[in-house]
Amino acid sequence: MKKKVRTYRIAIDGHSSSGKSTIAKSVAAVLGYKYIDTGAMYRAITYKILSGNISPDDIDGIKNLLNTTSIDFYVEDNKNFIILDGLNVENEIRNLKISEMVSEVSAIAEVRDFLVKRQKELGLGVGVVMDGRDIGTVVMPDADFKFFVTASLEIRAIRRQTELEAKSKEKVNYNQILANLKKRDEIDSSRKHSPLKIAEDAIIIDTSYLTIDEQLNKIIDIIENKKGKQTK
Ligand code: DC
Repeated sequence: MKKKVRTYRIAIDGHSSSGKSTIAKSVAAVLGYKYIDTGAMYRAITYKILSGNISPDDIDGIKNLLNTTSIDFYVEDNKNFIILDGLNVENEIRNLKISEMVSEVSAIAEVRDFLVKRQKELGLGVGVVMDGRDIGTVVMPDADFKFFVTASLEIRAIRRQTELEAKSKEKVNYNQILANLKKRDEIDSSRKHSPLKIAEDAIIIDTSYLTIDEQLNKIIDIIENKKGKQTK
C-alpha cells in the first residue's frame, strides 16, 4: 500500500554495492515516487563509448557522442529500464566490463556536466528518490532528505558476487569483485569533479548488518516523522 506523505525530493548516495539502489527503489515504491538510478546513466554512457570504440582520453570524440545522446527511463510493473537513444540497454550495462570502465568515464568533466544537467531535469517538481554518489552534494543540494548508505567492503563484494551470479548463472570471482569495488571507491572518492563525499546534512545508514526491511523501515520512519536534517 502506498503511504501518504508530503511530496519530497530524496537523495540517496553511497558506495558501490552498498545496497543503495535496492533501498532507493523500495523507498520510491512505498511512497509512490519516481525512482532515478543515476549510476545506470553513467553505465549507459560507458556502454556507448565502448560500443563506439572511443577511448576515454578522446575528449572531442566524447563531446560528439554526448551531442547525439538521449537518456531516459521507462517504468513497467514497478521496474525501471534505462533507455539510451530510444533503446532499452538495461541488460547491457550491468556486467563486469562496464563496471571496470565506468569510474574512469564518470571522472570525465564533460560526461558529468551532461548527466548532472539531465538528472536535475528529471528531479524537478515531482516526488523523487534519486540514488548515486553526488546527489545530495551536487544534483539536488536542496533535497528534503539526504541519506548516505554504506557497508563494509567485504560485505559489498559478497552482495555484488551474489547479484552477478544470479544474473549470469555462472561463478564469478570474489577477489576480482573485491578489487574492482576497492578501485572504484578510490577513483570515485578522489576524482576532481564532484567526488563521492558525504553531504554535511546527510544521515548515514550502515547496511552491513541490516535486512532490507530494517533499512526500509528506518528510512521511512525518518521521512514520515521528518527526522531528517532538512535543508528547508
Ligand atoms: O551505482 P553504480 O555502481 O551502478 O554506479 C556506477 C558508477 O557510476 C560508479 O562507479 C560511480 C559512477 N557514478 C557517479 O560517479 N555519480 C553518480 N551520481 C552515480 C554513479
